[in-house]
Amino acid sequence: MNKKTVHDIDVENKRVLVRCDFNVPLNDEGVITNDLRIQAALPTIRYLLEHNAAVILCSHLGRPKGKPVDSLRLDPVADRLTTLLDRTVRKLDQVVGPMVTEAVEAMHPGDVLLLENTRFEAGEEANDRELSEDLAALADVYVNDAFGAAHRAHATTVGVAELLPAAAGLLMAEEIEMLSTALNDPKHPLVVILGGAKISDKIGVIENLLTKAEHILIGGGMANTFFRAKGYEMGDSLVEEGSVDTARDLMERASDKLVLPVDVVVADAFNADAETQIVEPDNVESGWRILDIGPRTVELFTENISEAGTVIWNGPMGVFEMEPFAEGTFAIAKALAKADAMSVIGGGDSASAVEEAGVSEAISHVSTGGGASLEFLEGRELPGVAALDDK
Ligand code: 3PG
Repeated sequence: MNKKTVHDIDVENKRVLVRCDFNVPLNDEGVITNDLRIQAALPTIRYLLEHNAAVILCSHLGRPKGKPVDSLRLDPVADRLTTLLDRTVRKLDQVVGPMVTEAVEAMHPGDVLLLENTRFEAGEEANDRELSEDLAALADVYVNDAFGAAHRAHATTVGVAELLPAAAGLLMAEEIEMLSTALNDPKHPLVVILGGAKISDKIGVIENLLTKAEHILIGGGMANTFFRAKGYEMGDSLVEEGSVDTARDLMERASDKLVLPVDVVVADAFNADAETQIVEPDNVESGWRILDIGPRTVELFTENISEAGTVIWNGPMGVFEMEPFAEGTFAIAKALAKADAMSVIGGGDSASAVEEAGVSEAISHVSTGGGASLEFLEGRELPGVAALDDK
């Protein structure tokens, strides 16, 4: 990476403002249900503490749209950090303001503060200059470790980076390193697995990878739109009618690379108790919908994966939240774990799937980014990375 990291800057006895992505899922009681993103931020925080920095953490959580929302306060994150770091992480109830300034001025090396949800400030998403200046005034140095938010040009990801010496955190550096290698310097064959509901979300990724990958395996709801483009009846399956022409165009340009399911699991209702059958994709009857890839497709995809030098995976193969339709996604996760290939999971649902399948440890890199990793795979420059100081 041609950007400075925490290793390239002096943090000794400095106040360091660290942008993290603590946008973690919470249940109705406000309890964190998956702390992967908090765990992933620990190496940078620990590094800074070991180097006698005073650490000011900040993050968004959810989409409160510029005003305080009690259920999106960062208190549960501060509690989890306190446990994981085994030291007090003091949480402030504001992002900036006199109370914050006072608390920061009283900090000593080794102290950790967590500011309130940055999206409670209207200036955050607007990348407002005044908010950026107020944040910059709190610290000597800025570190961005929020890969998951690096596709957003906000005050805490871009504005403040322009006002302070700005470096990547260790998570950010690792994400960029692994995703860049998979994308730009992969061991071939490069196999890309794409799933999820919508083809429209993945068109940019397909376009960018069409010339780089040997095989692009398509599963999930997005495969249905390709089937429709082939003229198949899809019954009650999800089809993006507006993207059928795009799917047809992609198949015309890359029929040798795109690998579609050869069998699918169909259900007579969208629920876990529905009746199911395994059929060929051109045999979906009215009243039925495709909710997973079938066993012959798992075999076909597994064969491709086992021969790959590098695999990039983004998006589940079916509705894996419901047990009868989870088989395809979990089978792909396990195939990936067994393969010799460098394996990179592009965040979001596929990251949850490898975790649920219990194989995260066997994957080379599970990204903490959802939208950010998709934009990276589209070949776009992420504003939060671009704003950091060059090496
Ligand atoms: C994510 O969950 O993908 C990141 O935290 C970014 O969140 P956002 O889509 O609300 O900007």
